[in-house]
Amino acid sequence: MLIISDYDYLKSFYNKSLKRTLKKKLHKKIDLYPEDKKNLFNLNNHGYCILRNVFPKKIINNLNSKFQKEIKNLKNISIPRDLRNQKKDIEHIYLPKVDKKTFFTGERKFRNLTDSIKLKDPLVNLPELINFSLNKRILSLISNYFGCMPYLTFLKCVKTYKNKIKEHDTQYFHIDVNATKLLKVFIYLNDVNSKGDGPFYYVKNSFKNIQKKWGKRSRWEDDYLKNIYSSKNFIPILAKKGDVIIANTVAFHRGLKPKKKDRNIVIINYGMHVDFTFNNKFDITSNINKVDFKKQNSLNQSILSLLNKI
Ligand SMILES: [Fe+2]
Repeated sequence: MLIISDYDYLKSFYNKSLKRTLKKKLHKKIDLYPEDKKNLFNLNNHGYCILRNVFPKKIINNLNSKFQKEIKNLKNISIPRDLRNQKKDIEHIYLPKVDKKTFFTGERKFRNLTDSIKLKDPLVNLPELINFSLNKRILSLISNYFGCMPYLTFLKCVKTYKNKIKEHDTQYFHIDVNATKLLKVFIYLNDVNSKGDGPFYYVKNSFKNIQKKWGKRSRWEDDYLKNIYSSKNFIPILAKKGDVIIANTVAFHRGLKPKKKDRNIVIINYGMHVDFTFNNKFDITSNINKVDFKKQNSLNQSILSLLNKI
């Protein structure tokens, strides 16, 4: 049976990993950019922050068009789930995949059968993502949050569809239970200007006391949470291409289903240890090419050291 990993076990694992990392000279936190003082405050006190204009729009456009090309090509895209027969039960997230024949007919066909698609091995297929994940401004902020330089544990590149399929999986409120302390970095590949554009939806301050909710349910109803946290704390996080959102996702959050246009995003996990999955077991980490790994300086190699080198 799959059981959500134990909070106390993960907490002690985190503490041991932190202690070990704090001793590494290479992993010292780096000076905070003066413009990010307020952002660090927000991350520490409210659970999230938005760094404006971290990447030039041209670079984001370029990345997005490469992702789009991969979608056209389909070779490096994971076959998505077929959600036409979704059950009412929001905790029910294991569904069959779209059949191969339909999938290889192309996006125009399968985009109406699923919620989203993912790029396989994003650090291998879009190696420029390595530089995104090692961006100095991001590393400075997150190293000040952890107290030392964390490790990259996972990265995904996702396109979420505007279609008639109802909400699914992480489009319902949930808590990330891969560690007791981790950060997720969200980089929108298109402007997200309104709730209809499918923003990341975060319950401000809900990270405080989250241990009480840990493992109780895997998906949570909005109405239930709105009785606990006042509705002013429910924040659709809007941002432009080039902005970076950083959040403590050991807190209530979900992705809003886009109503106006598809939404493309890169999500990067940072932490002190490999993410956990069910039953106190380690989750898979992202793959990276050995050659790309070896090109990096020793600090970057250490940040990437938990990844699987292929
Ligand atoms: Fe999540």
